Amino acid sequence: MGKHLHHYDQVNSTQDIGHELAKEGAPHGTVIVADEQLKGKGRKARSWHSKKGEGIWMSIILRPDLAPVQAPQITLLAATVLAQVLAVEGDVEPQIKWPNDLLIDHKKVSGILTEMQAEQDHIQYIVIGIGMNVNQDGSKFPDDIRYKASSLKESTGHAWDITKLIQKILKKFEHTYEVFLKEGFKPIKLTWEHYGYRIDETVTISTMKKKWKATLVGIEADGALQIRNEDGSHEKLYSAEIEWGE
Ligand code: BTN
Repeated sequence: MGKHLHHYDQVNSTQDIGHELAKEGAPHGTVIVADEQLKGKGRKARSWHSKKGEGIWMSIILRPDLAPVQAPQITLLAATVLAQVLAVEGDVEPQIKWPNDLLIDHKKVSGILTEMQAEQDHIQYIVIGIGMNVNQDGSKFPDDIRYKASSLKESTGHAWDITKLIQKILKKFEHTYEVFLKEGFKPIKLTWEHYGYRIDETVTISTMKKKWKATLVGIEADGALQIRNEDGSHEKLYSAEIEWGE
């Protein structure tokens, strides 16, 4: 992974470049890194602040031999990669907030955006975008996210070498992907649940129809969150508002 690495000073979004390259036939493992993004994209059509030299703004093209319904496994895999690299390199205790936000001390440090191109029952390619706040000072975050966002520098008290961190992530990604190909989703699930935020804890959940308390149990291979209701019944959630109580 990273043998085909495209580095840019400035782009609108590494995701867009990822799609362009993938459509031109770029191989599995192609990596796009930018120092700065002018139109960084987050999930749910949000923007992602990606200033020069402040973080990791990277997309990876993957060509897994999977059905589209299995794509969430790749996102969950990526979250375990980031959690493990942060735990080892940063000596911090990262947590993964379902579905795929990386938190340190209850604040978001990293996010993952997965975009897929599929034909019938097969994935043609996935562009997995990784954004990680690395060297921002807390006061630099815009007002709307200041109280929920953080950076590695904030959590560890020192600045980080972004290039080295990218190398660590790519190495771990390559290894974890190989494990996934050999052993399937089980090891990813276990690692995810190890780092899972509020796993085994009771939270308040709400959907359009109701609001109730349940215990978070873990994740499913299709990316669903598994919960246990107060009557002991288990349920799978694909989308819901959760009062995380950060
Ligand atoms: C989220 O909403 O949490 C996901 C954020 C993903 C941001 C990354 S930065 C690199 C890649 N390029 C983008 O435009 N977005 C992703």
